[in-house]
Amino acid sequence: MIKVITYGTYDLLHYGHIRLLERAKALGDYLIVGVTADDFDKTRGKINVQQTLMERIEAVRATGIADEIIVEEYEGQKIDDIIKYNVDIFTVGSDWKGKFDYLNEYCKVVYLDRTEGISSTEIRAKNRKLRIGTIGNEGLCEKFRKEIAFVNGVEYSEFSGDMSNVDALYIASLPENHYNDVKNAILHKKHVICESPIATKKEQCEELIKLAEDNNIILIDGIKTAYSTAYKRLIMLAKSGSIGEIVSIDSVCTSKRINPGDNLDNEQNSICAWGPTAMLPIFQLAGVNLENIEITTKLIDSNKNFDGFTRISFRFLDSVASIKIAKAAKSEGELIITGTKGYIYVPAPWWKTDYFEIRYENQNENKKYFYQLDGEGIRYEIVAFARAVEHKKKNYYISDDISIAIAGVIGKFNNKEYIRLGKGDINE
Ligand code: CTP
Repeated sequence: MIKVITYGTYDLLHYGHIRLLERAKALGDYLIVGVTADDFDKTRGKINVQQTLMERIEAVRATGIADEIIVEEYEGQKIDDIIKYNVDIFTVGSDWKGKFDYLNEYCKVVYLDRTEGISSTEIRAKNRKLRIGTIGNEGLCEKFRKEIAFVNGVEYSEFSGDMSNVDALYIASLPENHYNDVKNAILHKKHVICESPIATKKEQCEELIKLAEDNNIILIDGIKTAYSTAYKRLIMLAKSGSIGEIVSIDSVCTSKRINPGDNLDNEQNSICAWGPTAMLPIFQLAGVNLENIEITTKLIDSNKNFDGFTRISFRFLDSVASIKIAKAAKSEGELIITGTKGYIYVPAPWWKTDYFEIRYENQNENKKYFYQLDGEGIRYEIVAFARAVEHKKKNYYISDDISIAIAGVIGKFNNKEYIRLGKGDINE
């Protein structure tokens, strides 16, 4: 029996793909099709893929041409597969001519003529693009606009107040303006990615989430870390019991950007700038049912309720957690998740993580994990957003209860439910 193998993304399956699969099958008796996983595609620059891995696998299966479908997950897997499946012929389209000659050492390599005039890229380009405008902090907006360019299916559209120019808005205004800005966008039927917190009060956040639902609008929380591959994996590993029962989650996020005497008018305080990111792994792992919370802060400007440094201790039924956040102090920005069997360690700056370790008492059992991180996670956030809008279904990288819990903690801070460090007026 002659075994043939071929690989591809098979996004929005088209006639060119089917012709390739038919000819690949005709080269032998048994055809294995490798469909590239989402993360593998990202490293090849195909972040624009519109269908999920399962949808693409289903589409290939539905052709009835493949005898077996596998997932291609890592660089160098082709050699492993060829050996593992005893493959006689490797084939791909002529657009790859020469690229896979190195496989000749393991099996025969055949390049089949590519079908002219059709490709997934062209089909994606024909679909109307989602026009995203930006509001607020120029630095954040600029980063966001740069990343839009890497994602297919979306484009930047300048927004100067005219809602007809955009289908969606990225909101990075000052947190106290989020509620009005998000509400306004939703009422104009615009989809929203809002920098976290979505609102500075729990009730307002709940109201906006409900309003978005009622209007069939996608509203997502813009904590970019949540969308990065390494972060998602570490949360999954922690949840799957790899470090035993979780007893403590401790995260630190600081930047030393503010100095005494600085004009704070257009600055976010530390709790809004860093709090959501620092709290994300805590609520994702410990849940949102708090038994107790204690906030200690060092204010820079008490009139503005502007904190330079804040520490929060959380107690849940089965675990504790802490965050240290600052815009006017500096510390080691690491994340440590303590478990009964071992711990997960993410080195600074953990919120831009592409690497983490699981460590045990017996160091020989330690494991290191590396992932690709492009665009600080913003690029993946835009992909997730565009997919959610396209499928008219929110994807739960950050679930609503977590957005609400974050807004709740910030609301407490705004109500001055904290202990203030240092001399001066406390809780005035
Ligand atoms: N293919 C082909 N003829 C086409 C398009 C693709 O023969 N018109 C082949 C490719 O050479 C590859 C397989 O189909 O062997 C899967 O290709 P894939 O990269 O998934 O599809 P493309 O349409 O080329 O995708 P893109 O436009 O994103 O590059």
